[in-house]
Amino acid sequence: MRALARLAVTTLLVAAPLAAVTVATSTASAADDPVPITVLTSDFEDGSAQGWTGRAAETVAHSTAVAHGGAGSLAVTGRTATWQGPSLDVLGVVEKGTAYTISAWVRMTSGSDNVRLSVERRSGGVAAYDQVVGNTAVTAGGWVNLTGRYTLATDVDFLRIYVETGSATGDFAIDDVTVSYVPALPIQTGIPAVRDVVDEFPVGAAITGAEIVGDHGRLLSRHFASVTPGNALKWDATEPSENTFTYAQADPLIAYATANGLAVRGHTLVWHNQTPSWVFTGADGQPMTATAEDKELLLARLENHIRNVAGHYGDTIAVWDVVNEVIDENQSDGLRRSTWYTVAGLDYIRTAFRVAREVLPDAKLFINDYNTNVPAKRDKLYALVAQLRAEGVPIDGVGHQMHINVSWPTLAETEAMIQKFVPLGVEQQVTEMDVSIYPNSGESFPAPPADRLLQQAYVYRDMFALFRRYASEITSVTLWGLADDNTWLDTFPVTRKDAPLLFDTRLQAKPAYWGVVDPSKIGVSPSASASVSVSPSASISPSASVSPSGSVSPSGSVSVSPSASVSPSGSVSPSVGVAGCSVTYRVTGSWPGGFQGEVKVANTGTAAVSGWSLAWQFTGGQRIAQLWNGSVIQSGATVTVTNTSWNGTLAPGGSATVGFLSSWTGSNPVPAAFTVNGTACAVN
Ligand code: XIL
Repeated sequence: MRALARLAVTTLLVAAPLAAVTVATSTASAADDPVPITVLTSDFEDGSAQGWTGRAAETVAHSTAVAHGGAGSLAVTGRTATWQGPSLDVLGVVEKGTAYTISAWVRMTSGSDNVRLSVERRSGGVAAYDQVVGNTAVTAGGWVNLTGRYTLATDVDFLRIYVETGSATGDFAIDDVTVSYVPALPIQTGIPAVRDVVDEFPVGAAITGAEIVGDHGRLLSRHFASVTPGNALKWDATEPSENTFTYAQADPLIAYATANGLAVRGHTLVWHNQTPSWVFTGADGQPMTATAEDKELLLARLENHIRNVAGHYGDTIAVWDVVNEVIDENQSDGLRRSTWYTVAGLDYIRTAFRVAREVLPDAKLFINDYNTNVPAKRDKLYALVAQLRAEGVPIDGVGHQMHINVSWPTLAETEAMIQKFVPLGVEQQVTEMDVSIYPNSGESFPAPPADRLLQQAYVYRDMFALFRRYASEITSVTLWGLADDNTWLDTFPVTRKDAPLLFDTRLQAKPAYWGVVDPSKIGVSPSASASVSVSPSASISPSASVSPSGSVSPSGSVSVSPSASVSPSGSVSPSVGVAGCSVTYRVTGSWPGGFQGEVKVANTGTAAVSGWSLAWQFTGGQRIAQLWNGSVIQSGATVTVTNTSWNGTLAPGGSATVGFLSSWTGSNPVPAAFTVNGTACAVN
């Protein structure tokens, strides 16, 4: 085992923007009824700049030209660089290990720009810059709120928050800046540890700096047996410029894991994201293309990177995601057209595994991807792994990310995903599981509603039961985060507060935790019967054929496959007639071959509706691939959606909204008519 490099004193932090102005003000669980404590307010109502200064020679002054609240604000003029802007010393205000919410209102004086909220921190004279809220469009037309979370994880001797712009150096104003936190609750010690209850395989959590400090660290080591650095081992963190390797982010995390006896999943050696642009820049300074020279240089850089990063940790990291997200099921060969691929073809994958094996003969080497439950994607991944293994490429395992949500995918589809890879004789790991409370991009709750948390608990219950049944195949299950106070889903695919993990924002056990640890505590859901039971050794039938028109949304996280994977739920309550109804149909996003839509059905009558069945015609050949908040059957052009158990009752004036992903070819006509329980509805 190679010794770890001596750890430098390092500042670790996590910054995550949020949609809401305040942290959850009311939520379903008793633990989540927090009253935030405000440690800093700058309202600029006293005629002064309240301690704010410029970062350089720009002018920062109190102003009454505009104000968000009251009569005063703070104006900045005379900026000569985008990083210049109002700045405030918060050393002594912000304490290490506490998760703060920082909020500021911003307005341009004229025109528009992208504005961001950042922190500059220094330790021993070395400066680092953290983004709390990323580029946010701001104009002169109104005030825009920037809110994000920030946790400082070690000692600093300089700490200032500041507001800067993304593009130009225009004047702007800020107002009503607050820094607040929700007092910590003690970690629950009287509840079972996840790692003790689920002992078939290590259960892990992805971590950033904040998860190893204080209560977070205690929660982490109590419940989990494995960790995955969420960002610290990626290329941009480990080799930001050519042949300059830095482990300042990752070393403390790995040292924590080692000290606490936790396994480590290394994530990730090769990816198309979070890879610095120099990697893909040729010797001539131009973006690389498919030339022999560029390919040779790219593969040499790849080899050097893996030799250094994997070599730095040696046997300390026994499992690596060697390549990440290389599949694009919409390509006939199934391979993502990343720069890796366009310059080096499949050889980048071959090289990565070969080199990783040379450096780490005993490590388990994984190929990792998202949406591996989607048949088209799963099958392309299978074909690639089968081909490469037949060539002798040392792929030991397939990683299923499992970024899922409360109503997708089905358990059967997930089981089919696992079964698919059994004949290959590879290990399988669930590498990045989280269960978003949002089935679509259109919703946003300031705090998770109780029924969503329960739905989520059922998903965790059923998925973990499935994984445990397949313990001969599944060798690890990692959640993409420790607790809901720090989840990447707060900003992906849109900015809003999500709650996808087992512990809430105050580190308390959620229904989801009980779904994993003791499902008797969350009652029985109708979906429990959805579990299909097929033994892991069952032989695998050829996968359902999928037409090539499936496509991927621009965000890359949701795939549409036109295979009919939807089934009647059988849990519809008896229907009664609808005296009056109206329907609103909306396409919320569209891309070549696919689109996302939303249908709202409203009860405009005077009697409650108990159980509904909504029908329309897709006359353009559109095929629904996935639908949430309802069950769908599509027969030819006729689409019939029935309620789920929780949205079947429509009070007078009440409504329910279903969302879906669909394929389309040629044209995508909007349905002209809708019926509810056989009665024609008004169309909005
Ligand atoms: C995410 C991190 O969690 C974020 O902090 C970062 O901004 C973007 O990447 N699939 C992966 C992970 O393989 O590396 C991604 O992690 C989430 C999706």
